[in-house]
Amino acid sequence: MGLNMEILDTSWTEKYRPSKLDEVIGQKAIVERLKAFVKSGNFPNMIFAGTAGVGKTTCAIAMELYQDHYNEALLELNASDTRGIDVIRGKVKEFARTKPLSGDMLKIVFLDEADALTTEAQHALRRTMEKYSATTRFILSANYASKILEPIQSRCVVLRFKPLKEDEMDVYIKRVAKSEGLTVDDKATKALIYVSEGDLRKLTNVMQGVAALSESITEANIYDIAARARPKEIISMLTYSLSGDFLSARNELNTLILSYGMSGEDILLQCYKEALNLEISDKLKLRIISTIGDYNFRIIEGANDRIQLEAMLAKFALLENLK
Ligand SMILES: Nc1ncnc2c1ncn2[C@@H]1O[C@H](COP(=O)(O)OP(=O)(O)O)[C@@H](O)[C@H]1O
Ligand SMILES: [Mg+2]
Repeated sequence: MGLNMEILDTSWTEKYRPSKLDEVIGQKAIVERLKAFVKSGNFPNMIFAGTAGVGKTTCAIAMELYQDHYNEALLELNASDTRGIDVIRGKVKEFARTKPLSGDMLKIVFLDEADALTTEAQHALRRTMEKYSATTRFILSANYASKILEPIQSRCVVLRFKPLKEDEMDVYIKRVAKSEGLTVDDKATKALIYVSEGDLRKLTNVMQGVAALSESITEANIYDIAARARPKEIISMLTYSLSGDFLSARNELNTLILSYGMSGEDILLQCYKEALNLEISDKLKLRIISTIGDYNFRIIEGANDRIQLEAMLAKFALLENLK
């Protein structure tokens, strides 16, 4: 299978980033609130909190205040620029200090991944927020609002973004598929949703990677690209071992390692995910999860993947007596 390099030329996450709040999928309460802010032309400092790929940056960019002037009114800083105090003292202060475009236009500083800022930089940020509060608003994005200093939090409205739901991801998949002329069947849709775990950036990247391989997005290609197992092999490996059938479990393990090229850590992560969904007693689930934790630690410390995974399956097989 050859790679279609043309498809890899553009970034689909940028190509499919909504440019209007109306195109944002899910996050309904937040979008409504932002629209109201845009309409009124005034808004508070905000923290956009939530996991990766759920629309934080997108919403900040899509606010479309002041139509064509939005670019001039917005200072956008990425995590890589913003770790230290110099950026806050330099770029941010410089931007906040210069005159607004016209009398009552607020300037906006969007600090992506603000939880990566050093404490020192956060203190400088707080002072800057205070000093320019008449003319400038700050939007901070963060995985966890709690990682932002309390005195900053208390100056901001916290908007909590949620991981996208399955039906919302489905809408997005259809949007991209239609625009790219791709066929995505039900199984492939399920697989895309499974591997991306509510993260639309991850989903977009997997779709783009698979599309570069072929026009039809298949379940197998998705799992290849996502470097993850099909859940059914993980489940059957776990089920065999828990029923005491070590040899069959070991066969499934072989498939995962040899055919899918999965690493020990990948396999453990999948086992962990699937163990939570198995129809077994809570007590057994706890034992499985704590066992996975032990083996994960050993593998991370450098023990042989293969031996550790087999030992784990053997341990699960012995747990059978405890049911
Ligand atoms: N709610 C959403 N609606 C539509 N597309 C989204 C949404 N969230 C994420 N995306 C897609 O994922 C990409 C990354 O989203 P982004 O807003 O940068 O995530 P983050 O929350 O990490 O800032 C976007 O370019 C877009 O393609
Ligand atoms: Mg972001």
